[in-house]
Amino acid sequence: MTADAAFLSALVAALPAGDVLTGDAIPERNAHDWSDRYAPVPPVAVVRAADAGGVAAAMKLCAAHGVPVTAQGGLTGLCGGGTPVAGGVAISLERMAQIEEIDPDAMTMTLGAGVPLEAAQKAAAEAGLMVPLDLGARGSCAIGGNISTNAGGNRVIRYGMTREMVLGLEVVLPTGEVVTSLNKMLKNNAGYDLKQLFIGAEGTLGIVTRAVIRLAPRPASTMAAMCGLSSYDDLLKLLRAARSGLGPMLSAFEVMWPDYWSVISGTPGLKMPLPDGFAIYALVEAQGTDDAADPARFQAWLEAQAEAGLVEDAAVAQSLADVARFWEVRDAVSEFSITFGPHCAFDIGLPQARMDEFARACRAAMDAEWPGTGEAIFYGHIGDGNMHIGGRVRGAAQQPKERICEIVYGLVRDFGGTVSAEHGIGTLKKPYLSHARSDAELALMARLRAALDPAGIMNPGKVF
Ligand code: FAD
Ligand code: LAC
Ligand code: ZN
Repeated sequence: MTADAAFLSALVAALPAGDVLTGDAIPERNAHDWSDRYAPVPPVAVVRAADAGGVAAAMKLCAAHGVPVTAQGGLTGLCGGGTPVAGGVAISLERMAQIEEIDPDAMTMTLGAGVPLEAAQKAAAEAGLMVPLDLGARGSCAIGGNISTNAGGNRVIRYGMTREMVLGLEVVLPTGEVVTSLNKMLKNNAGYDLKQLFIGAEGTLGIVTRAVIRLAPRPASTMAAMCGLSSYDDLLKLLRAARSGLGPMLSAFEVMWPDYWSVISGTPGLKMPLPDGFAIYALVEAQGTDDAADPARFQAWLEAQAEAGLVEDAAVAQSLADVARFWEVRDAVSEFSITFGPHCAFDIGLPQARMDEFARACRAAMDAEWPGTGEAIFYGHIGDGNMHIGGRVRGAAQQPKERICEIVYGLVRDFGGTVSAEHGIGTLKKPYLSHARSDAELALMARLRAALDPAGIMNPGKVF
């Protein structure tokens, strides 16, 4: 018996029958996340544990045998974080999909890490509450993955990143110890806030098995307008006016440059709410507590912006169906493989004031490298200082992805931005992490990682 076979037999024996899949029983979906840059890496086993005890048993064996472990949620990650390490085990949280409790007084939900985000959203809505997190992959991504990537999404401007929503965690450490800290209190300053270590760690410091998340009141009203503007300068003024005029009602401020708008217009079945021809487009959404008064207040705010000359034209949602239709224009990124074809995707962060300047510099650099065919399109959560970019060489048989990354991340470094505002580093952005983090920051990250994972088995090769 080889060492590998001995390890696999011990792993199968350590967990209840059927919890460990090996050989031909390993599903293809567990060999990669949704990023499209690398070839799939089939794991030597998939552990589908039912609870933290099962994860801990697997983790102890992996630590003893020096076998790498990769945690997997919904696998919608876009930077290779959930793709297994060669020769390693995948621990899937898919069976830990129970919503254990909704506490209407504390306004919390206690749930398993494998609960799909959309299922958590539906359960909260049925209780008259709301999960503040929302993103395009809601149907497939899982809460544990959202926590491990500190996901951003559509409503960060109002509720913050996932980090702001997490109150408690249960975590299995790389040594197999279980730390249960399912705190429900908003205020708890008793020593270090340990959960922060695991939020956004991309599965490099431990495996999240359960969580307590904050809920918000379910809004009574949702208003939205798709606005066409004549300059980026006006857009910045509109953002300021939305923050001051709509106040806490402002729930999203999504921006699309004309190059994005024209690509998305080609999405089969998509009806664009405004014509082409504006310098920039903004989807402004507000949510409030007064269904009777809020729509008129939103309308008055919008009219004031039109009168001030900031908004050239706007389509105003007359129903929730219209709101959903406006969001389809933004969510149509999931059809990019059809409308835009092979490309490199970016989730950079920059101060708002320099975003349009960045877009111009990026377009120019792409065109200088590949005259006439190098192009980039821009959109994103501009209210949060987070811009998405799709870069490609039109008509290229194979996209020069490494070179496109060098160009874009080089500019990010020059502009003092971050190489990842929301999707994380995984393997894809690893070569560029130092564009956004100092040597001292990287050294501290390495010390933390070594302290928690002395055997070096927790998603090795990811992030740094
Ligand atoms: P996975 O892909 O399974 O894993 C992601 C990382 O977390 C991996 O490193 C993995 O090892 C680790 N991990 C997963 N579960 C655990 C766990 N329980 N414990 C420890 N580590 C774990 N992201 C945004 O931030 N904002 C967006 O607006 C957004 N929009 C998207 C739209 C689309 C159409 C798609 C496809 C993706 C989008 N994403 C977005 C990216 C992705 O959906 C998020 O990163 C999401 O949070 C990943 O969750 P997941 O369950 O799919 O994680
Ligand atoms: C979005 C993903 C790509 O915002 O993060 O659409
Ligand atoms: Zn995004």
